Amino acid sequence: MCGIVGYIGKAQAVPVLVSGLEKLEYRGYDSAGISIFENGKIETIKTKGRLADLEEKIAGEGEKLSHIGIGHTRWATHGVPSHINSHPHNSQNGKISVVHNGIIENYLELKAFLKEKGYTFQSETDTEVVAQLFEYYYNGDMLQTARRLLETIRGAYALGILCSEHPDRLIAVRKDCPLLIGLGDGENYIASDIPALLEYTREYYLLEESEIAMLEKDAVHIYGMDGSEIHKDIFHVTWDIDAAEKGGYDYFMMKEIMEQPEALKKTILPRLAENGIDLGDISLTEEEIKNCGRIHIVACGSAWHAGIVGKYVIEEVSRIPVEVDIASEFRYRNPILQKGDLCIIISQSGETADTLAALREAKKQGVKVLSIVNVVGSSIARESDDVLYTWAGPEIAVATTKGYSTQLSVLYLIALHFAKIRETMDESRFAAYLAELKTLPERTAEILKLDAKMADIAKKYANSKDVFIIGRGLDYAAAMESSLKLKEISYIHSEAYAAGELKHGTISLVEDGTLVVAIATQERLFEKLVSNVKEVKARGAKVLAIALEGCGAMEEVADEMITLPKAGDLFTGSYNILPMQLFAYYIAVERGCDVDKPRNLAKSVTVE
Ligand code: G6P
Repeated sequence: MCGIVGYIGKAQAVPVLVSGLEKLEYRGYDSAGISIFENGKIETIKTKGRLADLEEKIAGEGEKLSHIGIGHTRWATHGVPSHINSHPHNSQNGKISVVHNGIIENYLELKAFLKEKGYTFQSETDTEVVAQLFEYYYNGDMLQTARRLLETIRGAYALGILCSEHPDRLIAVRKDCPLLIGLGDGENYIASDIPALLEYTREYYLLEESEIAMLEKDAVHIYGMDGSEIHKDIFHVTWDIDAAEKGGYDYFMMKEIMEQPEALKKTILPRLAENGIDLGDISLTEEEIKNCGRIHIVACGSAWHAGIVGKYVIEEVSRIPVEVDIASEFRYRNPILQKGDLCIIISQSGETADTLAALREAKKQGVKVLSIVNVVGSSIARESDDVLYTWAGPEIAVATTKGYSTQLSVLYLIALHFAKIRETMDESRFAAYLAELKTLPERTAEILKLDAKMADIAKKYANSKDVFIIGRGLDYAAAMESSLKLKEISYIHSEAYAAGELKHGTISLVEDGTLVVAIATQERLFEKLVSNVKEVKARGAKVLAIALEGCGAMEEVADEMITLPKAGDLFTGSYNILPMQLFAYYIAVERGCDVDKPRNLAKSVTVE
């Protein structure tokens, strides 16, 4: 979703802004633009389309010399992707320029107010209202004006603001949308995410809500709404710039698929203690775990699928009932949370607007929140009672892979830790699970050797119109995640079905040549799946089966067979998804899709 960059300092702003925007492309966008300060006024260059289009336009305007600027990649919410709706948006007198991520909820009301005052609007966006309102309130003092602005606007936002009367300063504010302040030597930055900063600095401030940052070339001052200056801790980026580069792969998605063994090692191994699991310094007490009445897992997209796997695993070993909710449903359905319940929030980015709102709802109802998050210091991480980080490193491709698999691994750790405390499992079973968990990274690496095979199969099915993916239990969760992967990056229509449910309607869509993927990696459900495969075969389906080695009956009925090494049933959700990640990837490549930046999608969904 929209990406923001800003620069003030000794260097030329334009190349810094453009390279920052390139690093934020992964967030998903449909137009881009920059504003700089040149010859005593603000100059804005923007366009619908990709960054390459913007760069061409900038080059066409000749050399641009400025030591301050803001930049933006827009993911359309209010108004179609177009030149006019692209950011930055400028105020009527051209003195104020604004980039914005988020949604201003009361923009219509403010627009009507400003129209009455004689303001005219060019775009359909909520952002233009911010620029005009800033101009309307402007009294020569950017800080005071920003405070008034924040008192008036409602919604979610990260804003970068430039004023031509103060070419030596940049204003940045945020609420419910990410924004970092990068700290350099004689130069400072704003950015929606760390990759945009890494080429220049590894040090940054995290801006809290209702804080106003004033950036100058040699200083950054942060103020509260009462005007007092706030002193903040400096954060250091711990990962390397290489982690945010493609490193020889064609796409980030493939790099991230192949990084899964390493990411799992980093996430699991430090938490495995001598005879149990060490979740570190969490505030959740043994007493609270023992008395936990119900767990509510809340998330969006793939993180929600991880939650479904979590439900199976937690209920199986720790015998606590688990409900799994889509965050956008949870927050508006008046959920019943009771004393002693626990809410587990899952989010790769830690910034998903609906997930953050669900977290706040759970806290409002007095329930403890434990979150599983990949981005350190993100809003969800900061607002939770406890955080268990997935150490996947930066995930750039929109379609998550290593983010998802590390989320599963943390859910296993929670399940086993709770089972041990609640004494719902005997020692030998616990030890066996622990031993398997240790080998999960290696098993993952082994299964990823299916790479070439999945590429071959994908070639055959790249022109499919519809794909149905069936499974039961943990294989059903994998079917849902596989279907999402396929839709996200290859644009093939696909549906996931609990295998036993297909014949209650959807089987009517299966016809000659329809691809049905059958995932069957739980031995106890294996025969049931074979029967379901026979049902679709009888209606002309082509079947790609993903099953455990030694399951000969499936080999007889399937057209394509992928066998996975036998393992225990509990962690199968980590194995069965891997061939399907590869399959979706190769189908997308085969169809010429932009794998890392699929149309209409955003990596970090900061609007509800
Ligand atoms: C977007 C992404 C998905 C992701 C979902 C939740 O829709 O495209 O890949 O699963 O958001 O994101 P989160 O950062 O909260 O895990």
